Amino acid sequence: MADRDLRTEQELATIRGWLSETYGIEASLSPLPGEHDLNYRVSAADGQEFLLKLHAAGNADELDMQVAVLEHLVAQASGLPISRAFRDRSGAVTSKIELRGARTARLLSWLPGDIWAKAPLRSAASAESLGRLLAGLDRSLEDFSHAGAKRLHAWDIGRADLHRKHVELIDGADERAAIDAILDHFTSAVLPRLTTCPMQVIHNDANDYNVLLDEAGQVSGLLDFGDMVETWRVIEVAVASAYALIGSDDPVGTIAALAGAYHHVNRLSEAEVELVFDLVLTRYAVSTCMAAKQIRENPENTYLLVSQEDVWRELNRLRNENPKIAVARIRDACGFAPIPQAAAVVRWLEKNAHDFASIVRPSASKSKVKVFDFSASGPEAAQWASLDAAGAETRIAAEIGSEQAAFGIGRYGEDRGIYQGEAYETVAKGARRSVHLGVDIFAPAGELVSAPFAGKVAFIHDDAVAYGFGPTVLLEHEIDSGVHFWTLYGHLSRESVAKLSEGQSIAKGEAFAAFGTAEENGNWAAHLHFQIVTDHLGLGGRMHGVGVRDQWQVWREVSPDPSVVLGLSVPVSVIVPRDKAFLVRERHRRIGRSLSIAYSAAPLKIVGGEGAHLIDEEGTRWLDMVNNVCHVGHCHPRVVKAAQAQMQRLNTNSRYLHDTLVEYSRRLAAQFPDPLNVCFFVNSGSEANDLAIRLARAYTGNRDIITVDHAYHGHLSSLIDVSPYKFAGKGGEGQKAHVKVAEMPDLYRGRYRYGNADAGRKYAEDVRNQVAALAADGRHPALFFSEGILGTGGQLTLPEGYLSEAYAHVRAAGGLCLADEVQVGFGRVGSHMWAHELQGVVPDIVTMGKPIGNGHPMAAVVTTEAIAASFANGMEYFNTFGGNPVSAEIGLAVLDVIRDERLMHHCRVVGDRLMDGARALAEKHAIIGDVRGHGLFNGIELVRDRETLEPAARELDFVIAEMKHKHRILLSSEGPHHNVLKVKPPAPFSAEDCDYFLNALDETLGRLTPRQE
Ligand SMILES: Cc1ncc(COP(=O)(O)O)c(C=O)c1O
Repeated sequence: MADRDLRTEQELATIRGWLSETYGIEASLSPLPGEHDLNYRVSAADGQEFLLKLHAAGNADELDMQVAVLEHLVAQASGLPISRAFRDRSGAVTSKIELRGARTARLLSWLPGDIWAKAPLRSAASAESLGRLLAGLDRSLEDFSHAGAKRLHAWDIGRADLHRKHVELIDGADERAAIDAILDHFTSAVLPRLTTCPMQVIHNDANDYNVLLDEAGQVSGLLDFGDMVETWRVIEVAVASAYALIGSDDPVGTIAALAGAYHHVNRLSEAEVELVFDLVLTRYAVSTCMAAKQIRENPENTYLLVSQEDVWRELNRLRNENPKIAVARIRDACGFAPIPQAAAVVRWLEKNAHDFASIVRPSASKSKVKVFDFSASGPEAAQWASLDAAGAETRIAAEIGSEQAAFGIGRYGEDRGIYQGEAYETVAKGARRSVHLGVDIFAPAGELVSAPFAGKVAFIHDDAVAYGFGPTVLLEHEIDSGVHFWTLYGHLSRESVAKLSEGQSIAKGEAFAAFGTAEENGNWAAHLHFQIVTDHLGLGGRMHGVGVRDQWQVWREVSPDPSVVLGLSVPVSVIVPRDKAFLVRERHRRIGRSLSIAYSAAPLKIVGGEGAHLIDEEGTRWLDMVNNVCHVGHCHPRVVKAAQAQMQRLNTNSRYLHDTLVEYSRRLAAQFPDPLNVCFFVNSGSEANDLAIRLARAYTGNRDIITVDHAYHGHLSSLIDVSPYKFAGKGGEGQKAHVKVAEMPDLYRGRYRYGNADAGRKYAEDVRNQVAALAADGRHPALFFSEGILGTGGQLTLPEGYLSEAYAHVRAAGGLCLADEVQVGFGRVGSHMWAHELQGVVPDIVTMGKPIGNGHPMAAVVTTEAIAASFANGMEYFNTFGGNPVSAEIGLAVLDVIRDERLMHHCRVVGDRLMDGARALAEKHAIIGDVRGHGLFNGIELVRDRETLEPAARELDFVIAEMKHKHRILLSSEGPHHNVLKVKPPAPFSAEDCDYFLNALDETLGRLTPRQE
């Protein structure tokens, strides 16, 4: 600080003159803090900004290293947000200046952003962005080496042992003991593992004054390469974490976020990941030692004392963390199993479960049990909360008795409200331990407890506090691979536990303890808490019985589902509901990134559905305008009931005779005119279209297929080939030789537009062209694919006469014609059951999917007897699931509901209302270029200019986002230009829903800025 006083105006003037001379820059200067160097912010007259560093004469190697690393990074990693060095008039990146002695000057680019320590928005996302930056930096530094980095550096925590001698300078015996313990652990446990890890040059000082954040809380710059050192790479992560966690709600969560993000760019080994937490503590220990030394050398330095307050506050928070849980959370963030041995334990339990003895007698697995719901959000939560221990015991006993059950059961994974008080708090703000890690078995006190498999008594503990475990025993077991795990028995009788001693062997089936009374087991109704423990977290007999919900992926590995030991005939574990961020992460990790998520910036967690509405986890209702699958309404009770009833009776493949299958095929075929009489049952629209290709090839003997441009017909390989939407799009492999693509008949922006009475015939000409192109090669079409309204094409209605003309061209060449009704069928178009009927044609093959089962995965192909006969060429057609009795019952129920609730007519009435309303809006909002559709399958196309038809895709994105955000309406975009608002709600979408939508659309379009509109 004294330095700063010396920077007089006179000095600044000297530097300004020197800058002008050396760099040709006229600038104003403001001094910045710095430990050894003089630093200035330089604002040039032309608005450019720079960082000027005037390095004191000192270690020349170190300065040369700083110069060299920036040169290296400019070449290797130009995208990283780090300073670039400017050259002076002589072309050098360093210059000399006399200022309080000879100094070396460097002029660097100024990085934007706030210093991390002072940035208003710091979050886990900030830590992630820092992790990614450091990972990119370290990758670029892998092949960087410099004599200046090969040094014994006091700030290299890989050499933390060097600071031993400073511990005695720290004030306070407890503090000294704490630092001693960290350094002991470093020497005995960390260093031996660290020496097996990769080494390289690292930045080594991404502290909260060297990292800059932008307004969104993302890292915008990394400063100061003066502490670079060649050491163990993982230290980079630990040093950055030690500062990123300061003041965060969840210190270990911050470390995990930073390490996880680093790992996904620059893979860390398991050993490195496991050392991060200890190395963060080591950094704190080194920092306290360094500060103690400096304070001793310079007692007036109050700044150091203040920064040490931060260090001790955070150090104490970290010391209160369970280190095993911390490491497990960091492992998890990096994609490693949180508890490495857990999977082997679970596999062993599942493999050997047939041979386990019963924990209670008579065997719980052979007895009737009463399963209780003690969850905080359960229907009986308030009643349980109102009872005291005696009341709860009486009620539990009464309910077990009234159901004539042998035992009561409390479930695993239940998030309970009963665990109150400090003991259940964790370091992370708001993260309480509340999720049950075991299963409770309720029976009167004195019930004997037997070991399910052989083990030895590992821990005996009696916590003897209200609502504690009371007398508790952990048995230790060893599995074939040498891995150890434990079983925990809580709430035992004091007398039975008194007879046990640690180390004592317990045989499989040996009754080694008994249930305690409420008085001795912590005031709970008499029961056994049984828990599997793969890692007792260093807690031994004090092992926790409940874990943290938001860390469930870790806790469920610490204590896996004990159902495997009990073997009950009813479920006694629950799925723990998780937040959206976790679900997204797990989806990406376990289900793959190609599976898209709607509204990916703010995804929805949907837990229920009713009619045209979806319901999220908070009970908010969303008007669903994109789900034509749940055609007769989400969770329609008649469909649900039909499924439940048949599931209860029978579900098997179609090799056995069954009335429903035959009845369903009759009812479905009756929806079509002759000769479409034969049904094939499959499981998805794709499978239906694939089968249709096989049928057509069998019947015609031809192989080639004609499809309409921009169409989508399914995700199987055979259908990607006939889906220009996919094969000509991102990641597509292009058009295959056996496929011809006909021009899309687009009446709005195509070659022949609305008002052209001949458009249908003219567009169909291109189908003829494709037929002719095949013929020129001596080939003929097997099949022509088309929808009755083009979905991915942009909800396009077909010009009159298009299909009849196109069919005629294809048939004249010996090909068959397919109507893909997967999107549009089942009365959605209002005037007809099938969209192709709008064109007055009878196809040779019709494929159906999506709405056919109201969400149940089923689909169908309907064709002629002649085509079906050509397919029966001796090769059996077998489909394991297609046409099973449950699907058939569901299919029938869907047809019944469409008929009985007059849904086709309803689609027509509400669809007309919607299109009339949207056309009225078009008079007010010039951005609406076209409104089209039939019934409830509609497109509203947005354009920036009605003459040029410039697509308004960005505006549509805004509309869709706002309709969701402000009006709770779910919509999506469609069409080759992504500018068509797609409308296809469940059929129960009502006139009121329609008006609500129109009003919301009006309001939202009104908020498009003039520039946008
Ligand atoms: C017109 C059309 N055909 C076929 C399919 C494929 O159906 P599925 O996803 O059930 O395989 C789709 C799916 O979106 C479709 O839109």
